[in-house]
Order: sequence, then structure tokens, then C-alpha cells
Amino acid sequence: MPSQPICDLRTADVLEPCTIVIFGASGDLTSRKLIPALYSMFIQDRMPTPFTIVGCSRTNMNDEEFREKLLAGYRETEMDLTRWHEFAANLHYRPIIYDTASFQQLAAYLRQLDQETQTKGNRIFDLSVPPRLYAVIATLLGQAGLAEEQNHGNGWARIIVEKPFGRDLQSAIELNATLHQYFQEEQIFRIDHYLAKETVQNTLIFRFANSIFEPIWNRNHIDFVGVVAAEELGVGSRAGYYETSGVLRDMFQNHLMQLLVLTAMEPPWNFTADAVQDEKAKVIRSLRQFSSEQGSRICLGQYSAGSNHGEPLIGYRSEQGVKPDSLTPTFALMEVYIDNWRWHNVPFYLISGKRLPRKETKIVIQFKEVPTRLFREILGETIHANRLIIETYPDEAIRLTFLTKTPGTSICLRPMTMDFAYREHYKGATLDAYARVLLDCMEGDHMLFWREDGIELSWAFLDPILRECEECRANDQHLHFYPAGTWGPEPARKTVGLLLDD
Ligand code: BG6
Repeated sequence: MPSQPICDLRTADVLEPCTIVIFGASGDLTSRKLIPALYSMFIQDRMPTPFTIVGCSRTNMNDEEFREKLLAGYRETEMDLTRWHEFAANLHYRPIIYDTASFQQLAAYLRQLDQETQTKGNRIFDLSVPPRLYAVIATLLGQAGLAEEQNHGNGWARIIVEKPFGRDLQSAIELNATLHQYFQEEQIFRIDHYLAKETVQNTLIFRFANSIFEPIWNRNHIDFVGVVAAEELGVGSRAGYYETSGVLRDMFQNHLMQLLVLTAMEPPWNFTADAVQDEKAKVIRSLRQFSSEQGSRICLGQYSAGSNHGEPLIGYRSEQGVKPDSLTPTFALMEVYIDNWRWHNVPFYLISGKRLPRKETKIVIQFKEVPTRLFREILGETIHANRLIIETYPDEAIRLTFLTKTPGTSICLRPMTMDFAYREHYKGATLDAYARVLLDCMEGDHMLFWREDGIELSWAFLDPILRECEECRANDQHLHFYPAGTWGPEPARKTVGLLLDD
């Protein structure tokens, strides 16, 4: 079999020139994620030529101060800064307030910059601001004429919206409606950084570019599926956001839902963003709705004081910025069912939590046991069924476990794992998740972004659960406490144990 990679023949070699306008440029996300991602693309020669970056926020700074502020933050890091000055020559800064006049001035400034730098009127607007400003900025951009695409040749306008996209179905619908007042769906890029992870993208390739898995990828052969995003860290300094979000909004509505749909979706009729999004939407539509009679299908938890690696850890309620009687869940286990032909009655266990013993992100496909009693007669009941793991963290890997006979005269079976780890087979510079989504936005490719209907369907599924958990009289009964550094609350342990190897 040839070992040379087969690459996307459609990939444009040359990106169109553009300006990236970052709102919230004095904030943490810009300095921690966006600028390093853009810089890493620059040093790998993946940025368009020419390009400009315009940082906007309320802080008063000039171009030089902006460049210096960013550089100061990187001096202590391991970032290779040899080409920083060359990159920084493309960095500009405009103080802005969120009103009409300020956005009209910004429009004039961008037109002038276009003339000077030949970026041809192509613009990406990245909203790295608190979610309450998404609609405000989209409206002001629209009113200033910045959402309009010019038809003669160049001049596209794209908007990148970070998560959280809404906080429930109603607010997501409203936000979509506001964006659509000025931007067409093709101009909107709703980020989910999980989609940019290599193994997550590989899930579709693994399933649909190999013919051996698809015939057994269904209820006849699969016992259950697990989607796990366990985190070792606690809420850190993000309590302000997390208190109004909790694990269901923070991880389930977006990241876990994407992992679920990639595992469960039907093959799209072709590999284009729209065909893939159509199939994803069908899966979310087929999720069996939660109802209070089926309440046993969800378990919520919150970490209390505990310890990990011998270090004492405070409980969630003692974290800075958290209400002392907070009922915000930091852990959830959901058992969900997809009511379609392929998945009828196969449980999908979705698990995510903070302050668990270690960080682990993976999809577990547990196959059914062999149908006959052939080996049971000899070996008893403990025959392990095959398991396939698509791991995103700590390794980007795919592992398949199967039984082997150990050498010798007696019949002993032992599970062995066939392992494929990205880092062992693919060396060289890789793009981080943020760089990947920015690059796709520059190319106008929507494959790694949420489409309007997907977002709304996902909220529609989650809404009744959120209502139940938040408005319900029995919230304190729903919430189980677990000591930090353990695998979640007691009622969830058995299921968690099914999905972990230890
Ligand atoms: C973010 C959540 O979207 O994803 C965080 O807001 C979470 O709470 C993070 O820690 C996890 O991402 P990753 O890539 O570290 O698994």
C-alpha cells in the first residue's frame, strides 16, 4: 500500500490578502490564543500576503504600545520570537467604544489601511469579547457598512463568534437573528475549538475513508459509546463566567455534542461543509428528549474540598468569585439515546467534569461480546469485548483492544492494544487549534464551525434539562458533591469506571 499522504486537491495554495480585526484586543484571549496562533501561522509561512491585524478595544493605546504589550507577555514564554518584529509590523491598534460614531471611524480607518496595504477589502472580524457584546458589535458593524461584501472582485467580510453562542435556545435564536440582519450564513463562523483538534477531525476520516469499521458501527455490534472530557483543573479565575454557565453550557452544548455527532452521524453524501452539517443536524434531531420520568439519565455534581497528587484542593464554593451556596454543576454524566435505525437503544454516556484526577479526552466505542459460549466454558465470564478508543488527550491516538492467546500450553487470553499515536508517526510543525480555525475562516471553509441549525438544535435538546436543573425546586437534590481529585460523584462512579482503563 502506498505510504505517501493523499492530500486535498482543492486546497487553495494562496490565501487571499486580508485584514483581521480583533475586538477585545487588550484581553486575555487575544494575547493568550489569537496572536500566538497568528504568529505561529506567520512563522510557518501560512499567513496571506499581504495581511494586517487591527486590534480594537476600549483601552487607549497606539500601535507601538499594543505591539510592546503583546511582546512583553511573550518574553517569558518559550515562543520563538526571532521573527516577531517582522510580524509586528503588520499589527495595528485602534481604541474603540461601542457606538455608531466609533464604528464609522473604524470603517474609514479600515478603508484607508486597505489602500495602504493592498488587503483588497477582505476582512475578518473576530469577536474576542464578552458574549453580551456579540450582538452589539455585529449590529454596529452592519450599520457602519462593514458587513457588506463588495461584488466586484474582492472585498469579503466574515465574522468569527466565540463560544458561548447564547445561554439557552431563546438567546441563541436571538443572536442568530441579529447576526443575520447584516451577515449571511456563509459570512458567519461559530467557533468550537474541539473541532480543530486533529483526532476529532480524524474521526470522520477514520470512519468514512476505511471500509472495515462502518459495517459494524451500529447497534448490532456496539454495546455502548462513551464521550469523556475529564479535566484536572478547577474553575481557576473564570468563576464570573462559570457561575452563570456550569458544565452543561460550558462543555455539553458544544464540545461534547460535537464529539457525539461525529461518532454517530451517517456518511454525508459528499465531503463538503454543508453535507456534513446536514448529517450532524440529523443526529441532534434524533436525540431522545429528556423528561423528568427519565431523570436517572443525568447526574450532576460539584467538587468539594479534596486533594490530588498529595496537594490539598479547595472546593468549588470556596473558589474566588463563587457564591458560598452555589448550585452550579462542575460535573455531569448524561446517558443519551439516539432514536434512529443505527443507534436504537445504544446508550451514549457523556461525561465531563472539573477537578477530576487527571485530564483525559476521548471517545470510547465498546463493542459487544462474542456471541457464543465457546471460550466461556474454559475461561468463565470475564471475557473482554473489543474496545476502540479515539483519544484527544493526553495523546492524540487511536487504540483498538482485542484478545490474544498468551504463548504456552494452557489457554490464557490477554487483551492487547493496537496503538496509533499521532506524535509518533507525524513529526514536524503542526498548527494549533486556534490557528487552524483562523486559517479555515481565511479560506472561507465552514467544515470546522457550527452552522445555525446545529447550534439551535443543540440548545433545544439541552434547554429542558437546564430548566429542570436550574428552576427546579429540587436543585440541591440533583447536585451531588464529590471531593476534588476523585472521579465524580458516587452515583456516577460505576459508569465512569466503565469508560476508564483504571
Ligand atoms: C473550554 C471551556 O471551551 O474548553 C473550558 O470553556 C474547558 O472550561 C476547555 O476547560 C477545555 O478545552 P481543552 O481543549 O483543554 O479540552
